[in-house]
Amino acid sequence: MYWDNQYQHNERLWGETPSRLALVAVEYLQKHGLAEKMLNVLDIGCGYGRDVLYLTEHTRGKILGVDISEKAITLAKKSYPENSRIKFRCCGFAELEENNKYDIVFLSNFYQLLKKDERIELRRKIEKVLKPNGLLFLSTLSTRDPEHSEKGTPVSGEINSFVDNVYLHLCERSELEEDFSFLRIEELYKYEYFESRATGETHHHISWILVGGTDTVSA
Ligand SMILES: C[S@@+](CC[C@H](N)C(=O)[O-])C[C@H]1O[C@@H](n2cnc3c(N)ncnc32)[C@H](O)[C@@H]1O
Repeated sequence: MYWDNQYQHNERLWGETPSRLALVAVEYLQKHGLAEKMLNVLDIGCGYGRDVLYLTEHTRGKILGVDISEKAITLAKKSYPENSRIKFRCCGFAELEENNKYDIVFLSNFYQLLKKDERIELRRKIEKVLKPNGLLFLSTLSTRDPEHSEKGTPVSGEINSFVDNVYLHLCERSELEEDFSFLRIEELYKYEYFESRATGETHHHISWILVGGTDTVSA
């Protein structure tokens, strides 16, 4: 499996520092007085758990990190032992039970890995598991991403999708607006960054950050 191999060779591929999305999420939660609340957070595609740790350290939430890679979850559990606030589970997002509800769904660099039918399934899942007044924090590659745009083999019949070791789908703003129109989109912007990797390489990326919320259900 691609991700098991990645983590096997370069354990903490993106180092110990949190992703940009984790910084954005904590800043947002602090600004809105939510960091002090006992929120339930779901990090899908959590990798070895660097953002789970950051979110736990900077909020009072309970965080469940899930990842399909056994190697990632083994690393996560070894680095950040489970306790009353941190849990990890090895599973694909499609296996998540829909009767467990979350205040926050967090997706850092995950959406871009999903094929069209999986993206539809993920959005359906988010809609099911987010509570009223819930929040989605998402980062995903832009079509302008210098590292991956137009690289690899184009996927036939699917715009902005390439296979270059792994399947990648790059997004335009209008696509994200449409995909997440079931939420009230609060923030949607592009950011550019240089990512140092455990391999010694530096990747140049342009990604989207989206913050969206579900509306309160009136009684
Ligand atoms: C690019 S990595 C990002 C890891 C982490 N969010 C971070 O920023 O450190 C994407 C992760 O998604 C996981 N993944 C891929 N498909 C998945 C699926 N269907 N369900 C859950 N996790 C999946 C991979 O194993 C990988 O760890």
